[in-house]
Amino acid sequence: MSTAKQAAKKSDVHVEEEEAVDEGATEASTDEVSTESASNGKPRKRVTAETLATKQREISVSEFFAKNRHLLGFDNPRKALLTTVKEAVDNSLDACEEGGIVPELWVHIETMGTNRFKVGVQDNGPGIVKKQIPLIFGKLLYGSKFHRLRMSRGQQGIGISAAGMYGMLTTGKPVKIISKTSPRKPAHYFELQIDTKRNLPEIINGKGEGEDIPIGDKGHKYIAERGIEWVAHYPSDEGHHPELKSGTRVTIELEGRYYRGRGSVDEYLEQTAIANPHVTIHYQDPEGNETTYGRSTDQLPPEPKEIKPHPYGVELGRLVTMIKDTHATTITQFLTESFSRVSPSVARKICETAKISTRANTKRIARQEVDSLYQAIQDTRISAPATDCIAPIGEPLILKGLHHVVPGEFYCAATRPPAVYRGNPFVIEVGLAFGGASAAQKVPLDSLTEMLGESDARTLRQFLMSSFDGIGSAGSEAILAESKMGTRQSPGRLSKEEITRLHQAMRNVNLSEGQTMQVLRYANRVPLQFQPAACAITQSVIGMNWRSYGLSQSRGQLPVGPVTVMVHMASVWVPFTSESKEAVAGYPEIARELRLALQTVGRKLAMYLNARNRVKQEGERRSIFLRYLGEVAGAVGVIRDYDEPRRKNLYEKLLGVARKKTAEADIKFDDRGRKVAEDEIDLGENVLIVRHDAEPHAK
Ligand SMILES: Nc1ncnc2c1ncn2[C@@H]1O[C@H](COP(=O)(O)OP(=O)(O)OP(=O)(O)O)[C@@H](O)[C@H]1O
Ligand SMILES: [Mg+2]
Repeated sequence: MSTAKQAAKKSDVHVEEEEAVDEGATEASTDEVSTESASNGKPRKRVTAETLATKQREISVSEFFAKNRHLLGFDNPRKALLTTVKEAVDNSLDACEEGGIVPELWVHIETMGTNRFKVGVQDNGPGIVKKQIPLIFGKLLYGSKFHRLRMSRGQQGIGISAAGMYGMLTTGKPVKIISKTSPRKPAHYFELQIDTKRNLPEIINGKGEGEDIPIGDKGHKYIAERGIEWVAHYPSDEGHHPELKSGTRVTIELEGRYYRGRGSVDEYLEQTAIANPHVTIHYQDPEGNETTYGRSTDQLPPEPKEIKPHPYGVELGRLVTMIKDTHATTITQFLTESFSRVSPSVARKICETAKISTRANTKRIARQEVDSLYQAIQDTRISAPATDCIAPIGEPLILKGLHHVVPGEFYCAATRPPAVYRGNPFVIEVGLAFGGASAAQKVPLDSLTEMLGESDARTLRQFLMSSFDGIGSAGSEAILAESKMGTRQSPGRLSKEEITRLHQAMRNVNLSEGQTMQVLRYANRVPLQFQPAACAITQSVIGMNWRSYGLSQSRGQLPVGPVTVMVHMASVWVPFTSESKEAVAGYPEIARELRLALQTVGRKLAMYLNARNRVKQEGERRSIFLRYLGEVAGAVGVIRDYDEPRRKNLYEKLLGVARKKTAEADIKFDDRGRKVAEDEIDLGENVLIVRHDAEPHAK
């Protein structure tokens, strides 16, 4: 896919050359020659190269992506709504973090008519300077992240302008942006459209210049009078109501559909909260319900550093281009300046191996010399790239995040040390929660009623499986059997009484047995909600043998059990399988790290499950002992002719033995997974156990 983008990108540069078609072309159209007969017996016309030439012309990136909108995640109205919110939220979070600001976001979705929504996303980030606003929101492939190697959510420079373009194509409405960089400077307001033919922004308001919004109260008045949407203040906190110093709000009107459940905006925001515990999001859904996902820490993640490419990851063609474009004069200078981890002595070694002078001039270097330079790089030992360019979430925060959102009894996490694929450093992190109820058991009756009404699923069974994660087909069957409802019943046509019955059944059925593992995938802290089958993360989870960790699993399937696994890949460049950034490509190095991380949490889960099973078994054994001890003591007393005190004494002794034999039934774990008794099973660091007798589900 990326080749398509590259091609499109290249074409964007030469807009002017469009009409340069061969002069002979017009005459040529008459040059069509008849040749042998076609299948219908008539002679078939042959088109000449000159005729074809008249039709060959430039394709603008915007036209390309307008036609191929599915590549960017706009293939159906439901996904379009989510993608729009996602692109804007991802940008806002990137901007806040780069600006060193603890992010506070407002996500407002308003219904504007049937299948029509207005999405407004605002942040308290650093804002955008006036000159850049039109290009950022009105030109595809324009951004600050593509040419650098630094961990961020966005990387392609296409996300938000594509959302704007989709909105414009489906509703004809412009994208509205308001951005403020300082309380002492005017804010800027733009209404934009994309000229898809030229891939350029068209400013509609302020006579093509945009509008400046005065500072202070005058500004508030200006905004109110013109109906510009802007949240000016943070929510009130004990009478404290500070004004936003800077920030950006983008408003896009688009055709979409709003659903809850899997793949929804609500799910995306909830999952974003798990992986970003430093973020607060105020969310207003199309029905006017307000939800706030509050931050659980004020600490921003450490700032990831920008790095240069590592020599091992650079392909030959790229090396040729880099040498052609460099400002460095000697080859040593080029190597040390363009790559990370190449010191002058490493550069000298590379040159020696390649049999090139260290002072060879980059402008005069021959093609074969670049070949041997490339080979020499592969043959030289160069230390692995620096890893301060990645900011993983970290085990403690993964536990915190998971515990915050997924109810359960056992949690553990593992962050792998950094590794490298194609020269790009990356880190894999995994968190696991065991024992949580499925989302299906938490859903309130009125939400269920709405979900049923909105669903486009044809049967109830399909509805249950597509709306809730982890139910699986066995779970759906069990719910339908319990509620005495047919599998083929249509979700939209249930009576009130039937819905209540279904709701009851969803609560009562024990889903923990039929429930399949829920996999939450993340790339650079962004939840990935689509194309699970194409993603290296899901493939690794399915590829593991979970049976050896105490879960049941059929071949080629996700394991079964009340388990949620969260997997995060953090990298300076996440290799997505397409521009819509939905699935991670399966480089062998990535697959290996995924496996190792999953094994780490798998082992901890197995230890916990074993210990839990032992406690249960010993408890059962003890109760059997206790049931018969009285009888035994009585019978022995009769045979030996004991008086009452001696019989009682015997009973006490037997009781002592039984207690000792089944001592494991008394084991209690502390909240780090260590046994409270002395002989510990050590689950290691970063494990969290919730005792339900002591503490109710945290939510
Ligand atoms: N809310 C914002 N605040 C500040 N800068 C922003 C904001 N939104 C976008 N930008 C700037 O606009 C650029 C383009 O955004 P866009 O979403 O189109 O691409 P991207 O985020 O770089 O990559 P991707 O296509 O992967 O999302 C960004 O690189 C960033 O510099
Ligand atoms: Mg973006």
